[in-house]
Amino acid sequence: MRVIAIDGPAGAGKSTVARQVSTATGLRYLDTGAMYRCVALEVQNTATDPNDADAVGKIARDVKVVIERDAAKLNGVDVSTEIRTGQINAIVSIIAAHTPVRDAMREQQRKWIEAQKGGVVEGRDIGTVVFPDAILKVFLTASPEVRAERRVGQTGGDITAVAASIAERDHLDSTRLDSPLRPSEDSVIVDSSNRTIEEVVAEIVSHFERVDHG
Ligand code: DC
Repeated sequence: MRVIAIDGPAGAGKSTVARQVSTATGLRYLDTGAMYRCVALEVQNTATDPNDADAVGKIARDVKVVIERDAAKLNGVDVSTEIRTGQINAIVSIIAAHTPVRDAMREQQRKWIEAQKGGVVEGRDIGTVVFPDAILKVFLTASPEVRAERRVGQTGGDITAVAASIAERDHLDSTRLDSPLRPSEDSVIVDSSNRTIEEVVAEIVSHFERVDHG
């Protein structure tokens, strides 16, 4: 499968970079973080306890999540804005740590790739667990200061609070037992701290051209 896996922490620039890599390569783009965010939104809407792995797992199996290039749909409704609030940021890493939730999301992600015959897939565990055979694995990162500044630039807010929220999510995502955030051994590590988006995209596309024979 022609899969480009782009993993990394919040604010590293994954979404912007993955979209542009998708445009440059002609491969479809999938934001797996948006899938976990949709489940988190349904947990919030139904007043479910985010720590209840079985209840949240059932929600993850039952909801209909459709991620398009420019919209995230939960049970047929566009929730692209609702999934990016501070409340969702605060619970998404909690619900994403539950194995029943990850099992359900992973299954959908694999089906999506089969149907699309490849893609640029952005997340936390794509190169390590979901698509270990991806032809290119990128671990995109940046310093905590740069990541916090970028988030404030995108969504506003107080820099100290944003930095604390990112640090909390990094901690939860990288210390969970099921598929923690970490670079796979065969990933290319790209630090976007002092580089433009164009430079980062060009580097990833050139790696792709080197490995793609399809
Ligand atoms: O990329 P993002 O900030 O939209 O992701 C939101 C959360 O979803 C992230 O903090 C952890 C979880 N996530 C995950 O566990 N695995 C993925 N493949 C993608 C996201």
